[in-house]
Amino acid sequence: MRLLSIETSCDETAVSILEATGGTDNARFSVLGNALLSQIDIHKEYGGVYPMLAKREHAKNLVPLLEKALIEANLPGREAPIIDAIDDEIERILEREPDLTELFFTFLRRSPIPEIDAIAVTAGPGLVPALWVGVNLARALSLAWNKPLIAVNHMEGHMLSALACEEDGALVIDDVQFPVVGLLISGGHTEIVSMDAWHSYQLMGATKDDAVGEAYDKVARMLDLPYPGGPEISKLAEATREEAFDAGEKLPRPMINDGTCDFSFSGLKTAVLYRIKKLPDLTDAEKTRIARGFEDAVADVLWTKTSRAIEETGANTLVIGGGVSGNTNLRRVFAEKIAAEHSGTTLRIPPRALTTDNAIMIGIAAYYRALAHEYSNRETLNADGNLALAKRDKS
Ligand code: KG4
Ligand code: ZN
Repeated sequence: MRLLSIETSCDETAVSILEATGGTDNARFSVLGNALLSQIDIHKEYGGVYPMLAKREHAKNLVPLLEKALIEANLPGREAPIIDAIDDEIERILEREPDLTELFFTFLRRSPIPEIDAIAVTAGPGLVPALWVGVNLARALSLAWNKPLIAVNHMEGHMLSALACEEDGALVIDDVQFPVVGLLISGGHTEIVSMDAWHSYQLMGATKDDAVGEAYDKVARMLDLPYPGGPEISKLAEATREEAFDAGEKLPRPMINDGTCDFSFSGLKTAVLYRIKKLPDLTDAEKTRIARGFEDAVADVLWTKTSRAIEETGANTLVIGGGVSGNTNLRRVFAEKIAAEHSGTTLRIPPRALTTDNAIMIGIAAYYRALAHEYSNRETLNADGNLALAKRDKS
């Protein structure tokens, strides 16, 4: 089946077209088209992402990216749809997206209807105004082209795409051994989820305060490093890794031994702040020491909690997903630790290009929903900023 997918939950505008084949036991995804535009340079100026600014940028860029992905995919298509009869209905769907409406109508009138089977879109979690741009465009397209809609949970996109391996230019998800434990680490989320079958999730732990990506970004700001902070801190810390063990500042590891799979990162962030305040001068050498100490503390906490979740569930597979899973040190620490401490558990880490937000992961998650015949209603589809992937087991 061919899926057109849209992602606008945060600061990446993305559209992908995937050809998906196989069942849940052996799914295979070929990327026919993939267009992505990061707003990082725009948000950099402010040191973080502003929802209304993100919305404006999505509205400006989404239709051109849709066109780009379709051109790349070069799908056969039928002539442009006759939409005059449904003009009003499309306008109503796009009522709250005035910046996008004209672009959309121009696109629609000149573009053939592509041979796709469904339209997938991130419905949450994320920044609500940003999410709505994607959701409303998907609803309008679904009406104009008469294609079914699939709402996707962004975190499920991170989780399932992390299971994929690259094989002969395609992404393959096969031989998944349940239970799976997923450590999902991004700018907005830090959670450990267990999955005992497709679409059956349980929340094992989550952050009580900051997400780990958020902590990276805030600490980077304290160190005068640009947004997003993850790659910047990583760069500094990596430079010290060939040196002695004590190249890093000693920093706390909040909640590490509390017997839960929950996290807290605000204490770690505050410890960095106090450390900086005590310094007469924030030299490059001090920045590096702090970056290294911060990364070591983060890796230590993330591994300890994940290891606990593996023990509790008897997980056969561990995945890590989300923007922070692209971190070089974490990828190395997790690979080493899993081999040393849980040799019966297989670690799957997504290809780096799939770690930060993209629309390929949305298409992957959508395919499993399609296999389960889970489609969404165009009229009632909502953007939900707090959409949860998993709940805690009450038992
Ligand atoms: O998943 P993502 O692209 O967006 C959200 O859904 O939030 O994650 C973005 C987060 C940012 O906080 C960024 O600093 C962090 O991921 N990040 C990293 C790295 N690359 C991105 N953190 C640590 N190391 C990296 N290499
Ligand atoms: Zn994300």
